[in-house]
Amino acid sequence: MIEIDRKVRKVFVMKEKELENVLKEHNQEHIFEAYKKLDEKGKEKLIAQIEKIDWSILAMAGHEELAQERGKLVPLSALEVPEIEKNRAKYEQVGLDAIKAGKVGAVLLAGGQGTRLGFDGPKGKYNIGITKEMYIFERLIRNLQDVTDKVGCFVPLYIMTSDKNHNETTAFFEEKDYFGYPKDFVKFFKQEMAPSVDFNGKLFMEAPDSLSLSPNGNGGWFYSMAVTGVLNDVKVRGVEWLNIFAVDNVLQRIADPVFVGATLDSGRVSGAKVVRKADPEEKIGVLCLEDGKPSIVEYYEMTEEIINSREANGELSYNFGVILNYLFRVDQLEEISSKKMPVHVVEKKIPYLDENGMLIKPESPNGYKFELLVLDMIHLFENCLSYEVVRDYEFAPIKNKTGVDSVESARALLQKNGVEL
Ligand code: UTP
Repeated sequence: MIEIDRKVRKVFVMKEKELENVLKEHNQEHIFEAYKKLDEKGKEKLIAQIEKIDWSILAMAGHEELAQERGKLVPLSALEVPEIEKNRAKYEQVGLDAIKAGKVGAVLLAGGQGTRLGFDGPKGKYNIGITKEMYIFERLIRNLQDVTDKVGCFVPLYIMTSDKNHNETTAFFEEKDYFGYPKDFVKFFKQEMAPSVDFNGKLFMEAPDSLSLSPNGNGGWFYSMAVTGVLNDVKVRGVEWLNIFAVDNVLQRIADPVFVGATLDSGRVSGAKVVRKADPEEKIGVLCLEDGKPSIVEYYEMTEEIINSREANGELSYNFGVILNYLFRVDQLEEISSKKMPVHVVEKKIPYLDENGMLIKPESPNGYKFELLVLDMIHLFENCLSYEVVRDYEFAPIKNKTGVDSVESARALLQKNGVEL
């Protein structure tokens, strides 16, 4: 017994020396100071967090020049609404057959913190009802049930959460009996967490034994499905396509048979729902081609020339914005999973422990978080069907409490679409 204890202690001391060196090498001595004050359990927790840090990512903080240069951009034409309407029956049949054959699954990205909404809890728990309860999660399940009722079978639903909201999310689904959706068809998985730093690149701590960790963006979902083992379920069920969607668009169609059918019919390996831009300056990521591959360019990356460029028919050349509703072929996802995705360094308000051990919640951005974004995934695919949907029927995102993309605007759109609130 004593022998084992000694051995364990020795390994631990070695690790400690290694830790000191690593932290010193990356100018994070303050973390080692904090570590020394902890008991064994606290030390193990902090070491485990530090071991997972990708230091090359942290080095990007404050170095915009390290961001990847854009390649050559050209417009990508969309399958537009009139063409979709002409072929609706055909596409729908192809989609319904694929869903019936169990080839389509859905992935709800719900690991975000929804800071703009300012709601204390997972965004999906927000009640958007007026005369009755109608939670965002409930609304999304209802939207999915529109399809499953029509097909007569269920679509496997994978829900990504994070350490910050996992327990509350799963407890809520239990409490609400999965809003009538069969539990066997719902699987939760947690995304990875990433550290955050101040403007000088120093790691923040959020507790004496913990770095300040936050969800690593919505782009790591496939990796997280794989490492948590949930991908096995996709394989065992024979799911060939995954429909990825955000928690906040309460109007969206999930596993939409017409979208599925059109993508299959196109022979492409991915599809993206897009809306026509409201005006050239609209703050929306635009789907186009970059060096011959599909790519999404954010509004702030576009030059005036690109923003205002027009086709011969007078339409904007870069006219279609993405709404975070994608269809990806699973075998292709596996193929691209080893490719590196760009890391976005984002200025945020990050709660942290000050030198007196007090938790400070800053009023303005005080550091950087590191995020992977699902929109960068598109560029890893050979091709993508740009599929137009009508904004007023399918796009009601809830980002803020009031104003643009808010609870107010989403409620108005839901009512316009005949949803009783
Ligand atoms: P947003 O970009 O709106 O981020 O996420 P957010 O964290 O929810 O909200 P803000 O910016 O703090 O107000 C778009 C979608 O991606 C998911 C969100 O849950 C939402 O469905 N997401 C975002 C994740 O699943 N994980 C993340 O780390 C970030």
